[in-house]
Amino acid sequence: MHSAPTWDPQQYLRHSGHRTRPFLDLLARVPDLPAAGRPARIADLGCGAGNVTALLADRWPDALITGFDNSPEMLQRAAKEYAGPTPGGGRLDFRPGDLADWTPEEPYDLIVSNAALQWVPGHADSFPGWLDALAPGGVLAFQVPGNFVAPSHRLLRDLCTRPEWRDRLGDYLRGPASVLDPAEYLTRLLGLGCEVDVWETTYCHLLTGEDPVLDWVKGTGLRPVLTALGDDPEAVDAFLAQYRDLLRAAYPPGPHGTVFPFRRLFAVARKAG
Ligand SMILES: C[S@@+](CC[C@H](N)C(=O)[O-])C[C@H]1O[C@@H](n2cnc3c(N)ncnc32)[C@H](O)[C@@H]1O
Repeated sequence: MHSAPTWDPQQYLRHSGHRTRPFLDLLARVPDLPAAGRPARIADLGCGAGNVTALLADRWPDALITGFDNSPEMLQRAAKEYAGPTPGGGRLDFRPGDLADWTPEEPYDLIVSNAALQWVPGHADSFPGWLDALAPGGVLAFQVPGNFVAPSHRLLRDLCTRPEWRDRLGDYLRGPASVLDPAEYLTRLLGLGCEVDVWETTYCHLLTGEDPVLDWVKGTGLRPVLTALGDDPEAVDAFLAQYRDLLRAAYPPGPHGTVFPFRRLFAVARKAG
């Protein structure tokens, strides 16, 4: 069992504009929450640096919103930037929690997760418990990447299994099995009695600067490798140089920048009212 990757909020937030778009697209499909005569209660699973958690208060100004994450670095950043009362009379809080065994301790109206469940093996097995904890008419909404066969990820996995790296990194990265097929999410959530909307989108991100795909992956997909090699800066440099060369060939810059297609999967499941 490997230790959890160490996150770097500053690196992750370097592409926050592109990374926020899918969250906004997800929220646009979340229906109104049940009117319970009290502020909505919202849980954001894998809240990261809190910047997308804070956007929930724009849509539900008086909501009590709690972000859960198991990265101390991310939680510290989130708490520093966003914790406290919101302008609409609600509140943002951030708490440690491991999604592998997170059990809702109070009824929620919305459980949302953006770009986090792919890190949690077997996450779909938690859906029944999470739905149980929703108020009638409550919503489970999540977005996960669906790009595990894209060159950025395939080349990374291939590099980790080269003889030079295999012993240290060979089993560090999970592949396409990190997420389910969209149809599988749909079937599972329908089977749990929800009204369900599942879709996928491939964003054509236009990145700028030198080696922008490497810079992007350093914030997310590379975290397990950087964590595993963390005590060996020379190995980190050697690995990054090899990966950078592979990415340069796979994503050559064009006249307007570097095109980085990124497929993402979305699900919105509404519990019966
Ligand atoms: C790619 S970031 C997404 C952060 C945020 N949701 C956003 O959209 O900006 C993934 C987050 O999931 C968190 N995470 C990964 N595995 C987790 C687990 N088992 N329990 C709790 N959080 C986890 C990481 O710490 C990280 O903050």
